[in-house]
Amino acid sequence: MSRKGAFLIDLGERWFRSGGAGWYPGLYEWFFSKTRRGTILRTREEEVVYEMLTTVLKPGHSVIEFGSGTGNYTVPLARRCAGMVTVEISEEMNGYLRDRLLREGLTNVEVRQGRVEDGAAGKFDGALAMGPFFYVRDLEDGLRALASALKPGGWAIFGVPLPTTEGRIFAANETLARRRVYLRPPGETLESVERAGLKVEQTGAVGTSREGLTLVIQASVRVLHDARTC
Ligand SMILES: C[S@@+](CC[C@H](N)C(=O)[O-])C[C@H]1O[C@@H](n2cnc3c(N)ncnc32)[C@H](O)[C@@H]1O
Repeated sequence: MSRKGAFLIDLGERWFRSGGAGWYPGLYEWFFSKTRRGTILRTREEEVVYEMLTTVLKPGHSVIEFGSGTGNYTVPLARRCAGMVTVEISEEMNGYLRDRLLREGLTNVEVRQGRVEDGAAGKFDGALAMGPFFYVRDLEDGLRALASALKPGGWAIFGVPLPTTEGRIFAANETLARRRVYLRPPGETLESVERAGLKVEQTGAVGTSREGLTLVIQASVRVLHDARTC
């Protein structure tokens, strides 16, 4: 590669922030509650996520949520399950979530700082990850880490961004915010899910366009049967 090419690649790498820097909880909440695009996106995504949750979530379940952000799903989930752990890369988002949980009087949520790619200590009945896989370079690795936090037969619901027009516009906007988004064709995503030891149960595309922005996937951890018992 030419020196100019290497320089441009290096510049590109430096543009993107690493870790959890650059997330502003107030701005995030404003976008999803006050803008037309944000409220439509939120409503359509919630319809699909809650529909999937009704098929898997039981009151006695322990749930892990990766990329919990400002707690849009944490608060209603915590009210419907036995206990939760959240793993979120941004300290700003975690600070906002802790205050929100206090205001809501919810005491069954442990808020941790971390990355979905690193998994989490403990074994949970279910996992939710709406958002973090947009920013994970190696999806299969990230999904393996998520699966490792689940009990055999446990459920997972997560979103992966699509290479649609809406996805490309979103990724370009995120580039301006110095966040790198990894768009993936649905077939590639579903292969990664299966290779990570998860079984796809159902999928749904959500967004403001017909093609959508996010592929939401509900999957379960494969239960390996001992051949001698068959
Ligand atoms: C689009 S927001 C979604 C927040 C929340 N799940 C929701 O639906 O409102 C994505 C969140 O994932 C977090 N995040 C990004 N990369 C992550 C990673 N590798 N591990 C854990 N969290 C991550 C961000 O800090 C952000 O709070």
